[in-house]
Amino acid sequence: MKKIKRRSPIACIAAAGGTALIALVVQSLSAQASASAGESRASFAREQADTEVASGYERQADDGRPNSLERAGELECNRCHSTIVEEWSTTTHAMAWVDPHYQKALSKKRRPESCHGCHSPKPLHLGDMSSKPIPRPKLPEEWHFGVSSNSCHLGPGGLILGPGGHGHEAHAGKQGRSFTPEGRNDLCSACHRTTIGPVIGVAKDFELAGKAEKGQSCVGCHMTVEFRSSAVDPELGPSPERVGRSHRINGPLDNEFLSEAFGLSAEHQAGKTILRIRNEAGHRVPGLTSRSFEFAAVALDGEGSELGRGELYVDSRSFIPVDGAASIELDGKAAQVQITADHNAPGVDRPIRFLERIIELP
Ligand code: HEC
Ligand code: HEC
Ligand code: HEC
Ligand code: HEC
Repeated sequence: MKKIKRRSPIACIAAAGGTALIALVVQSLSAQASASAGESRASFAREQADTEVASGYERQADDGRPNSLERAGELECNRCHSTIVEEWSTTTHAMAWVDPHYQKALSKKRRPESCHGCHSPKPLHLGDMSSKPIPRPKLPEEWHFGVSSNSCHLGPGGLILGPGGHGHEAHAGKQGRSFTPEGRNDLCSACHRTTIGPVIGVAKDFELAGKAEKGQSCVGCHMTVEFRSSAVDPELGPSPERVGRSHRINGPLDNEFLSEAFGLSAEHQAGKTILRIRNEAGHRVPGLTSRSFEFAAVALDGEGSELGRGELYVDSRSFIPVDGAASIELDGKAAQVQITADHNAPGVDRPIRFLERIIELP
């Protein structure tokens, strides 16, 4: 498998040469955000070796999502919640333990247990959610199942926590605070607010930007709303249809979802054309040292002749901050700007084209 090509933002600007000047417009980078950028630069160098590993991690060719986790059907919940288990089984949550990048990184650690807390956690509701998750003992639920159903739903006394508190003879149900509008970001943030290894704690950006106060939530973007029966008991049949959420977490490997992270607009300024790329995610992009995006833009006049072109490379060092934007300056007053963007994802051997767009200008 080919190593993912990586270029520094400086080299990229140089490569674009005289035709375009690339400027990173940082609109609202707080002092804390730049402190964590420094932190991420340090860990980038350290962890580079860990994450650049080519591996046999099978990904579906069309969109790069992982194939289904083997043995997902063995989970007890699968007996009645098979649709949800199936959705979950293609996520990196299901793969969190078997992920060969993770396994490879572990093999170099003296205390690998210190990593297991988020990759194979004890049910989070059995501990204190404001501190780092604790690894689960290997049995009864094997590490193999990664961030599993019990990690998020099992509460004290064997109660299953969810948004509605609906139970069943298989398990009693209770409404859990982390599934209500007040607490709905806590669960995700427990694992996603820490910068560790190749990972950037994106939930911190979300918190610093006051996104929850503006009505946004992690699940609001990452888990699509579904109206359906959440359970089908083999004997009793389907449960009542209700509003719930898909467990097929939307992530950077879904091209359409990924493209939603970037709001594009173009305008004329002093004889040039400025393409602006706004961050519309709930946190910086990207959030992983081994992920990068390459934008390319071409300015055309009314006859379709090229006026200028430019590129922008974004990785965890040149990230677009939460609520921030980057821009590409193109020569000439374009009538049309053609934009493409490619995603270099860890474990995928070629760039994935996730965005193609044309903007017309007056
Ligand atoms: C605080 C929770 C947490 C802990 C502890 C943790 N991780 Fe992770 N890890 C994550 C999250 C969250 C992701 C996924 C981030 C993403 O996809 O943007 C991840 C993903 C990874 C990946 C996959 C990245 C890739 O390039 O495919 C590797 C490798 C990894 N972690 C290694 C480690 C190692 C090594 C340790 C122990 C030093 C560790 N992790 C401990 C939360 C954690
Ligand atoms: C024998 C069938 C069966 C099994 C096995 C089962 N469940 Fe359920 N579960 C149900 C039914 C039925 C409901 C009620 C659904 C409803 O009324 O909307 C339910 C409800 C839920 C809810 C929603 C609670 C709410 O807030 O409304 C969650 C979460 C849940 N189950 C998780 C699990 C997990 C995790 C497992 C595995 C550890 C599991 N279930 C195993 C049948 C089952
Ligand atoms: C127990 C810890 C834990 C919790 C809780 C958790 N995650 Fe994750 N999440 C992880 C780990 C670990 C990975 C990456 C595993 C890997 O790549 O090896 C990950 C990966 C992801 C990814 C990247 C997907 C991709 O395709 O690369 C997204 C998005 C995500 N999580 C969102 C969420 C959201 C939203 C919630 C709350 C509903 C949540 N997570 C709860 C640990 C957690
Ligand atoms: C407004 C929508 C939105 C909200 C709110 C949001 N995200 Fe995201 N998230 C995105 C988009 C779009 C991407 C894809 C861009 C990317 O991967 O950098 C993404 C990517 C991610 C990734 C993968 C980052 C990477 O590059 O590997 C993780 C992990 C994640 N989100 C977790 C969270 C968590 C946890 C929360 C809540 C604290 C949250 N997100 C809130 C839209 C959102």
